[in-house]
Amino acid sequence: MKITCKNISKSYVDNGQLAPRNVLCDLSFELNSGDSLSISGPSGTGKSTLLNMLSGLDKPDTGNIYFDDACFTKLSNNEKTKFRLKYMSLIFQSNNLLKDFNVIENIILPLRYKGYSKLDSIKYATKSLEIVKLVDDKYSSITTLSGGEAQRVGIARALAMNARIILADEPTGNLDKETSISVMNNLVDICKENEITLITVSHDENILSLSNNHRMISMGKLILSTS
Ligand SMILES: Nc1ncnc2c1ncn2[C@@H]1O[C@H](COP(=O)(O)OP(=O)(O)O)[C@@H](O)[C@H]1O
Ligand SMILES: [Mg+2]
Repeated sequence: MKITCKNISKSYVDNGQLAPRNVLCDLSFELNSGDSLSISGPSGTGKSTLLNMLSGLDKPDTGNIYFDDACFTKLSNNEKTKFRLKYMSLIFQSNNLLKDFNVIENIILPLRYKGYSKLDSIKYATKSLEIVKLVDDKYSSITTLSGGEAQRVGIARALAMNARIILADEPTGNLDKETSISVMNNLVDICKENEITLITVSHDENILSLSNNHRMISMGKLILSTS
C-alpha cells in the first residue's frame, strides 16, 4: 500500500513548560507499495511520535497522511481502528508475546480476533512461520526462545495478519548486533517479497543503514543519511 505523508507537524506541551515543543515540523515523504523506509535519530527526536501518527494512535496538529489515495487523518477513531486492524501490523522492541501460549497460538490469537476461522488462522500462522523459518518451533513455549527467535515470531504474527503496512519501532532493541542484522535483513526481504510497505525507526543507525532507503530525523524533519 502506498503511503504519503504531507506536511505533518506535531508539538507537545510538557509539564511546567510554557512554550510547546515542536516534535515534528512540516515532515513529508512518499513511499510506493512494497518500499522500505528506515529512520534513525537519537532518543527523543520524534520517531515513535511519527509512527503514532501513521498508526492513528495520535493525530498530527497539521498535515495529512494518505494510504493509497484515501486520507487517513480525516477518518474517525473508530474507522482508524478498523483500518489498522485490516491493513497494519506494529512490531515493537518488546514484542508483546504471551508467555502462557506457545508460538503458533501467539500468532493465531490476533487472527481469530480479526475474524478469521480457526482453520484459516492455522493455515496463515503456519505459512508465516515457514517464512521466518520457525515452523519446527510452532509448539515451543515462548519462554524457550532466544531474543532473535522471539522477534521472528513477532514478524510472523505481523505477516499472518496479511498486513499491507508494517510499522516497526526499535524492532531490534533487545538483540545483540549480529542477531539485529539478521532480523533486520529478514524483515526487509520478507516485506519486499510480499509487497508490504515497511517503516522502521531506531536509534541504532548501524542496523538501519542496511536498508537502501535510510533517512535521519533531525529538528522534526527527515534528512538524507550521511552513512
Ligand atoms: N503524549 C505525549 N505528551 C507529551 N510529550 C510527548 C508525548 N509523546 C512524545 N512526547 C515528547 O516528544 C518528544 C519525542 O518523543 P518520541 O517520539 O517518543 O521520541 P523517540 O521515539 O525518537 O525517542 C519527546 O520529547 C517526548 O517527551
Ligand atoms: Mg521511541
